[in-house]
Amino acid sequence: MDKREYVRSSFAAIAERYDQLNTLFSFGMDAWWRREAIKALGFSGEGLVLDCCAGTMRLGRGILRQWPGARVMALDFSLVMLGRGIKRAHGVAITPIGGDVEGLPFRDETFDRAIVGFGVRNLADPCSGIGELSRVLKKGGRVVILEFGRPTLPVFEDVYQWYLSRFIPWAGGLISGHKEVYLYLHTSIMAFAEEHDVMAEMKLAGFSQIRRRQLTGGIVNLYMGEKV
Ligand SMILES: C[S@@+](CC[C@H](N)C(=O)[O-])C[C@H]1O[C@@H](n2cnc3c(N)ncnc32)[C@H](O)[C@@H]1O
Repeated sequence: MDKREYVRSSFAAIAERYDQLNTLFSFGMDAWWRREAIKALGFSGEGLVLDCCAGTMRLGRGILRQWPGARVMALDFSLVMLGRGIKRAHGVAITPIGGDVEGLPFRDETFDRAIVGFGVRNLADPCSGIGELSRVLKKGGRVVILEFGRPTLPVFEDVYQWYLSRFIPWAGGLISGHKEVYLYLHTSIMAFAEEHDVMAEMKLAGFSQIRRRQLTGGIVNLYMGEKV
């Protein structure tokens, strides 16, 4: 099975429990990580925002809670994940779109802002996804990428490794019935941190003023850049 298919079917399998387990395994910190990402958009409430790899649309819904007048499109290739989000949206005016980040179904320079939460690591080709984000952003538009990293403090890193490679697959398997998806969480985070330099890839894609902020000791990275 290729990575696209594997990722799509994995998220479909855990969609029902996805939000609940995120909150549980992050001790509720995921809500704060998302809030920081939304703040980093530097959005004024005007214009069109793209939430890519939107999943259950928590980022998109967060943006609309803060700026009810904003227009948000939430794109994901898992209709099952989007479907879970629609159920929780309770009439929030968000536009869900089934599509692939590596071939976005939008014209060049359509959006004022774009955000990706825990999605880039899951792409078959992260560079091509980041390139697509750049293509659909207007000049001067900002992208925010939220992604798992590796903690920088040695002792913390050891505890985190145990938690991510042992505890989460065990507990995730028990609760969702899909241990393999939580094993993939660990391997994908490690492989991504080793193989990808997100800031360099953003530069290649045409972003400038690229910065990174580490959250929770480096467990999560927040990347920001402006389209030139
Ligand atoms: C870890 S979830 C993140 C969901 C959400 N952004 C959040 O913050 O909780 C990753 C999502 O990326 C989606 N995804 C992965 N590769 C994709 C691609 N090439 N195109 C569109 N969606 C993709 C998956 O279907 C999944 O819903």
